[in-house]
Amino acid sequence: MEELLKIPVHIAIIMDGNGRWAKKRKLPRSVGHQQGAKRLEEICRAAAEMGVKYLTVYAFSTENWARPEDEIATLMKILRNYLADSIKKARDNNMRIRVIGDISRLDLDIQKSIRRLEEVSASNTGLNFQIALNYGSRDEILRAVRRMTADCRAGKIQPDELDETLFSSYLDTKDIPDPDFLIRTSGEQRLSNYLLWQCAYAEFYFPEVLWPDFDKNALKEAVRQYTARDRRFGGV
Ligand code: IPE
Ligand code: IPE
Ligand code: MG
Repeated sequence: MEELLKIPVHIAIIMDGNGRWAKKRKLPRSVGHQQGAKRLEEICRAAAEMGVKYLTVYAFSTENWARPEDEIATLMKILRNYLADSIKKARDNNMRIRVIGDISRLDLDIQKSIRRLEEVSASNTGLNFQIALNYGSRDEILRAVRRMTADCRAGKIQPDELDETLFSSYLDTKDIPDPDFLIRTSGEQRLSNYLLWQCAYAEFYFPEVLWPDFDKNALKEAVRQYTARDRRFGGV
């Protein structure tokens, strides 16, 4: 009998455990990051096949700048490689790709590739895929407040108009529904500054599996767990 799964509209993932994956194999951390990046394509396809409409992944946090320079360089190299054929990937899979986070701190060529990718994939109607780059929730909220207060000062909005919907429209995730389900791999059980506002009512799931081992079946198991949850929003 076909298994009945409840499919989350929006899944957010914290892709954690690349370093430990490499360490277990006595390999450099960079290999863990490369394997992690490969996994991402499989998970995008699998999520789309399952009927997930939005997938948001944490690729680089505002705190990750504290990592050693050579590790940051490796992560940026992997990002450049990803972006290099991302237009084709978006087209082949009918994916709309957007980046959340403050990209102004990234190198100019990366910023350009991101803008181009967002532009050319904007009309794709399949999976909405968001990549969080130089993303931190607190930073996102402060940037939102700065723009919002500037609009107030300019008379474009009035302070008493401010409600949750208006505030959300200043966040990087505007037009994207809140995640229903948050998965963090590698057994760590914290948010690490990810989607704090947006995850107010998300279900959380913390599998032990390290991100480079998180395959299609692991995603399916995660959705099984989600299916078994009794979601409540404050009511009875
Ligand atoms: C996640 O893996 C990737 C990024 C944060 C960029 P980690 O590099 O955090 O792996 P661990 O947590 O050290 O195993
Ligand atoms: C969170 O993972 C950020 C990403 C996965 C990109 P980290 O591994 O950087 O988080 P902490 O430092 O363990 O909280
Ligand atoms: Mg980590």
